[in-house]
Amino acid sequence: MTNKTILVTGGAGYIGSHTCVELLNAGFTIVVVDNLSNSKIEALKRVERITEKTVVFYQADIRDKDALASVFNQHHFDAVIHFAGLKAVGESCQQPLAYYDNNVHGTLVLLQVMEQFNVTDLVFSSSATVYGDPHTVPIKENFPLSATNPYGKTKLHIEEILRDLSKADSFGAKKRPWNIAILRYFNPVGAHHSGLIGEDPNGVPNNLMPYIAQVAVGKLSQLSIFGNDYPTKDGTGVRDYIHVVDLAKGHLKALEALFSCHDDSRSCKAYNLGTGKGYSVLDMVNAFSRVTGLAIKYQFVDRREGDIAECYADPSLSADELSWQTDKNLDDMMRDTWSWQSNNPAGYA
Ligand code: NAD
Ligand code: UD1
Repeated sequence: MTNKTILVTGGAGYIGSHTCVELLNAGFTIVVVDNLSNSKIEALKRVERITEKTVVFYQADIRDKDALASVFNQHHFDAVIHFAGLKAVGESCQQPLAYYDNNVHGTLVLLQVMEQFNVTDLVFSSSATVYGDPHTVPIKENFPLSATNPYGKTKLHIEEILRDLSKADSFGAKKRPWNIAILRYFNPVGAHHSGLIGEDPNGVPNNLMPYIAQVAVGKLSQLSIFGNDYPTKDGTGVRDYIHVVDLAKGHLKALEALFSCHDDSRSCKAYNLGTGKGYSVLDMVNAFSRVTGLAIKYQFVDRREGDIAECYADPSLSADELSWQTDKNLDDMMRDTWSWQSNNPAGYA
């Protein structure tokens, strides 16, 4: 597994930076391409501090074909992990063109350059959002796919493009068939246990865990809980929260699976990365208080448009085919979130 070189797009971001740590610790050489539109170079400096290894970094936009080709000219890549993308649901409804351009067009440019350089092993960041509002839980990979907002649609479109690419290989035109792992993340939370890297959202967080952490550190006055009338055990929404380090390790398992694949079984497959457990908003608030000793002030408000009652994974396919499972529990998620937030109240700034 070592002496392989991986291109990590969006590697300065939240999940990307944690995955860079795991890749470096496992002995990979990594090259990060990130335009820093939603991240800071400091994250990669901290990755280097944690691992005592070097990250090769290019500040570039994946939509810039010449810039990408120049990176591919300077390095031989064994695979690409593609994190780069915009991810705010609300913003995607206001600026759909920006989302389709950044996510879909950006991915097309990346795929074209990969094909040009005959690099056809890819791990792609998808999301549980592609399951829309599932009829039942836990969610399996073969459930129907749908999306209700432009962000989710970009993930669906990209997944379809990847499946088409893989199908096109059967026409025999390509030198080396594509080998693609689509990873559908459930709700990533937490931070590296060092407290040096973590989630650093711009402005007021949209997601639950960073919001709770910012209430705890005094940046926000109280949490608004979106709805207490869902058909769940306590009326609040239930999600599958997964520690970001467990999630990062899933990418290494996916790479291992791609690299160990025989030439005639190269394909495009989707995998859920979740714990298989669902926790409510109140479970999360209570766990955070229990672990940190800090009370979180909250009020119940109306449901947030587009939210669903319950969403959690059946992670058995990832266990069977990637030999991946989560190690960390809810307490680890809370402790590490707080360690990052309390050590870095202003994020990387
Ligand atoms: P993030 O915003 O922290 O990281 C994304 C990185 O990509 C950022 O560093 C950003 O600067 C970079 N980037 C964006 N557009 C780019 C472009 N055109 N060219 C180069 N770099 C670009 O987000 P994250 O939470 O680390 O998410 C990583 C991926 O995982 C995204 O594709 C996201 O949609 C997906 N995902 C995230 C979550 C989540 O809850 N965080 C859940 C499911 C899926
Ligand atoms: C959101 C996105 C989803 C994305 C996922 C991971 C929406 C509608 N969906 O999902 O597309 O894949 O993040 O990035 O934005 N909550 C509160 N108060 C808050 C924040 C959240 O009560 O201030 C509740 C929500 O109603 C939900 C739970 O906490 O029940 C988790 O919310 P969040 O962290 O935003 O994730 P998702 O809604 O699962």
